[in-house]
Amino acid sequence: MQLADKTIVLTGAAGGIGRAMAARLAVAGARLCLVGRQENSLRALCGELPGEGHRLLVADITTAEGRAAVVRDCAAGVDLLINNAGVNHFGLLEEQSDEQLRQTLEVNTLAPILLTRDLLPLLRAHSGGIVNVGSGFGSIGFAGYCGYSASKFALRGFTEALRRELADSPVQVQYLAPRAVTTSMNPPEVVAMNRELGNAMDTPEQVAEDLLRLLRSGKRALHMGAPERFFAKLNALLPGLVDSALAKKLSVIRRQAMATHGTAS
Ligand SMILES: NC(=O)c1ccc[n+]([C@@H]2O[C@H](COP(=O)([O-])OP(=O)(O)OC[C@H]3O[C@@H](n4cnc5c(N)ncnc54)[C@H](OP(=O)(O)O)[C@@H]3O)[C@@H](O)[C@H]2O)c1
Repeated sequence: MQLADKTIVLTGAAGGIGRAMAARLAVAGARLCLVGRQENSLRALCGELPGEGHRLLVADITTAEGRAAVVRDCAAGVDLLINNAGVNHFGLLEEQSDEQLRQTLEVNTLAPILLTRDLLPLLRAHSGGIVNVGSGFGSIGFAGYCGYSASKFALRGFTEALRRELADSPVQVQYLAPRAVTTSMNPPEVVAMNRELGNAMDTPEQVAEDLLRLLRSGKRALHMGAPERFFAKLNALLPGLVDSALAKKLSVIRRQAMATHGTAS
């Protein structure tokens, strides 16, 4: 997809990855509709972007009103929806509250499905596209990420099903799976865990570059990180091997998860 003069809805625009994506897309000549709940952060971002015609939309995408506001804002036309908003609550399942698990599934899975459905007629009219921002944990279930992995596996399944449902339409459906990224989504315990386990962390700017690579390639998906890609394939074919490898890391993951809950002994 060429990006110059395209209108792009970006959810989670004022977050770590969202800001980097917005900056990169604006440099490529796109007009952005920046969606989020924090007006001040959206306004500051909007003012920093190069180019013209960017706008912000304060909306909670987990509510019908929020999604309706996005659709209204796009009535004049939209070329691309990037479902980037997301949340994670790192921790052991038994320590997660109903609210944390519900929010994880609502923001990461249900809201993007509903927003995509609602914007689809407008996207069809422009032969547009959809990019769902998943995660490496959408292909590898990881301890400490039960709700998050469930939400991103579901998002990946949704992306695949929709791509096949729209196979005879011009609408392009793509999936971007970052590995760990240096944003405020990851508390210090996750950073410490990744350091101890030797898991690489990318910058938001690297994710934004890969978003552009994905869009320009027209490929169905881009999974970031060679080791993560290898493990995702291994997990699909021989999950027992990945079970064994991750079991060796469980004590580190559990220690950091308990530190997050403040239950470390
Ligand atoms: N960071 C990582 O390690 C990592 C790795 C792989 C994939 N990802 C994925 O990348 C995406 C962006 O993550 P990030 O690291 O940039 O996280 P982040 O810095 O925490 O940003 C997340 C954004 O989502 C928005 N959001 C949350 N709930 C929302 C709601 N109900 N309605 C509208 N917006 C909402 C927040 O905006 P407001 O607070 O303004 O509403 C926030 O700007 C997520 O889908 C995440 O799962 C992240």
